Amino acid sequence: LTACGGGDDSGDGGGDGLVVGFAQVGAESAWRTANSASVQSAAEADERIAELKFVDAQQDQEKQIEAVRNFITQQVDVIVLAPVVETGWTDVLQEAADAGIPVVLADRGIEAADEDLYVTRLGSDFTEEGRKAGTWAAETFAADTDGTRILELQGTTGSAPANDRKAGFFEVLDAEGLDYEIVDSQSGNFTAEEGKAVMETFITTHGLEGVDLLYAHNDEMGLGAIQAIEEAGFTPGTDIQIIIVDGSKAGFQAGVDGKLNYIVECNPVFGEQLMDVVVQVADGETVEKFTPVEEGAFDATQFEAELPNRQF
Ligand code: AHR
Repeated sequence: LTACGGGDDSGDGGGDGLVVGFAQVGAESAWRTANSASVQSAAEADERIAELKFVDAQQDQEKQIEAVRNFITQQVDVIVLAPVVETGWTDVLQEAADAGIPVVLADRGIEAADEDLYVTRLGSDFTEEGRKAGTWAAETFAADTDGTRILELQGTTGSAPANDRKAGFFEVLDAEGLDYEIVDSQSGNFTAEEGKAVMETFITTHGLEGVDLLYAHNDEMGLGAIQAIEEAGFTPGTDIQIIIVDGSKAGFQAGVDGKLNYIVECNPVFGEQLMDVVVQVADGETVEKFTPVEEGAFDATQFEAELPNRQF
């Protein structure tokens, strides 16, 4: 495969194997740590992969762009990018294309205008995750006659999961005709610390009386918010119902403890699948533009039974 630059052209385990550059988002959540571990251990165990060059971009797009540029200079065979945000990739992805290095998106997506600049994306259907959260909320609050008052803790501003989880959630509430009001909606940047701080501000600004639901776009922000709610003297899961997305052990434990009410799963353990995609792409095989990973959703009746199955 001439398009690949250096390394083994066959991509099938012959010769030296593939050199892969992976520009990871950061280490902001248990989900992310599990994702990095899954990708790194899959690469190590896979004899078709000679080397995985791993860069933790600390949630900084500039650092990710720099990492991709270094991968281009090093003439890796395939670049894997988990883009922190959806926009701003045109130039660097064009540089990769000009160098003949295929790009695979892992986890997060980028804006549709740039879709010719990567081969494929493997990751979650974030809109569908939002719809699952919205379906549970629409059912749970269907009989709420005075309107459902909602707080939203969004993920990193401009990131695909923040944009899509929001869109999918409110799409369903609108389609179901739920009478709701967004009391406030701010980014907690997918971290526990910022989720807690934003929740404290929500409580100071609006109080919690009459607020029905907190929709947190990931576990960390939800868990941080739970702390803030408890410190303010309220009972999370009862005084305010809570939805989180990811499904870490800590998230499920909070569910078992009655502190939250619904968990939408986001699955980070796709390292082996990713290696297969990388090899297919290096071999020039035709692959789907998007391959979603399998995910479920869990209510309070399922938390205890599911907790031992959680992998991160
Ligand atoms: O892109 C996936 C999201 O990123 C996960 O939901 C979140 O925990 C992580 O930071």
